[in-house]
Amino acid sequence: MKGPYTLTLQFCILFISILISINPSHQSLPPLNPRLSKAYTALQAWKQTFTSDPKNFTSNWYGPNVCNYTGIYCAPAPDDSYIYTVAGIDINHANIAGSLPEQLGLLTDLALFHINSNRFCGSLPYNFTYLQLLHELDISNNKFSGKFPEVVLCISSLKYLDIRFNDFQGDIPDRLFDLKLDALFINNNKFQFSLPENFGNISASVVVFANNEIKGCVPSSVVKMKDTINEIIIRNSGLKGCLPNEIGKLDKVTVFDVSFNELVGELPESIGDMKSLEQLNVANNRFSGVIPESICRLPRLENFTYSYNYFCEESETCVKLKVKDDRKNCIPYRPLQRSIYECETFYKHPLHCTGFGCSFTTAPPPPPPPPPPPPPPPPPPPPPPPPPPPPPPPPPPAVYYHYL
Ligand SMILES: *[C@@H]1O[C@H](CO)[C@@H](O)[C@H](O)[C@H]1NC(C)=O
Ligand SMILES: *[C@@H]1O[C@H](CO)[C@@H](O)[C@H](O)[C@H]1NC(C)=O
Ligand SMILES: *[C@@H]1O[C@H](CO)[C@@H](O)[C@H](O)[C@H]1NC(C)=O
Ligand SMILES: *[C@@H]1O[C@H](CO)[C@@H](O)[C@H](O)[C@H]1NC(C)=O
Ligand SMILES: *[C@@H]1O[C@H](CO)[C@@H](O)[C@H](O)[C@H]1NC(C)=O
Repeated sequence: MKGPYTLTLQFCILFISILISINPSHQSLPPLNPRLSKAYTALQAWKQTFTSDPKNFTSNWYGPNVCNYTGIYCAPAPDDSYIYTVAGIDINHANIAGSLPEQLGLLTDLALFHINSNRFCGSLPYNFTYLQLLHELDISNNKFSGKFPEVVLCISSLKYLDIRFNDFQGDIPDRLFDLKLDALFINNNKFQFSLPENFGNISASVVVFANNEIKGCVPSSVVKMKDTINEIIIRNSGLKGCLPNEIGKLDKVTVFDVSFNELVGELPESIGDMKSLEQLNVANNRFSGVIPESICRLPRLENFTYSYNYFCEESETCVKLKVKDDRKNCIPYRPLQRSIYECETFYKHPLHCTGFGCSFTTAPPPPPPPPPPPPPPPPPPPPPPPPPPPPPPPPPPAVYYHYL
């Protein structure tokens, strides 16, 4: 007898065979539960936003078994080890275009969210505040834009925050520096901000701010990072003023790079106390004066780059460093220095730390410029140069220093 019954039966068989063909190894997948169902809702909503998935990365993102989706990682729930939940998302380098929908807030057990090197735009949804177990957030190298995604300030579990290489702009909220992060990368955005007084509250071991527009100075509170900080990279960021003396207390720092900024004054002698320093790059600023010899004696120093400044003296210890770059300074008898004219012009109007709106709470105020000394006797003429190669014109050694 043909009737609704057979139809239903046929439908059932069809449905089961579809299920089996989608899901041939379902035994190996965790049984579904309400958390995985919510994850299904979230991931399908997310997939709806995809306008391009050139590597077909998410072609298996269908069906309720989200644990089998490429890039989705399930694990026993932290509060109930008998049920599985989505613990991680890693679709790095998928080159997917899309955005992040509010429904991602349904993934409340998420510990890792890595979507670097895609083409996601917009910003982080407000609902990320519900991701209270999130440890690692890496949205670097996408097309996110707008203001700093303040929602991250509400994720108290966050340890690793990487939003570099996007188009975020505007201010950085001070509260960012109070998060208990291990690593912070905000470089290569269009942020414009100054380092706030609580900058030193950063607990991260790596801080990379390069290629943004920081308007102010390095606050002396930087000393508070002493016990945790290993790498500071604030390259090409418009830093102004002098380096605070307190910098020398950061004796666990191995990489210190403040190159391509507008820093002035002398290098603090205290840098010679940064016992762990391996890479020191202060190039392309307007530093002047004598390079403290203690820096060149640092036991682990591998590479000291100080080219393109206005230093006027370095000790033999510095000259002997294996990997260093002292080009384009005002150092007498060294090759490839700036012209005498450039150096004289610079030292006629020395730049001081003040006047940049920076407060140095514990650093001594810069000494008033001494009256210009009587003109020193003209330097002895250089020894007759051996024919090749012609030595650079030796500027008079002592003159510049007296104008500091
Ligand atoms: C899981 O995905 C793999 C590869 O994407 C596929 O071969 C397998 O059949 C899927 N298993 C289930 C149960 O969906
Ligand atoms: C992705 O899938 C489409 C359609 O199924 C196919 O034409 C294309 O070649 C696939 N691309 C890759 C990189 O596998
Ligand atoms: C945002 O997340 C909460 C908590 O997971 C959830 O209840 C709510 O439905 C989410 N909002 C949307 C639009 O999905
Ligand atoms: C951060 O620094 C400020 C000022 O430097 C201080 O008042 C505040 O208590 C610090 N906050 C935390 C969470 O350490
Ligand atoms: C030393 O550091 C500078 C600046 O970071 C870099 O350009 C240079 O390649 C380094 N030299 C060596 C030998 O590693």
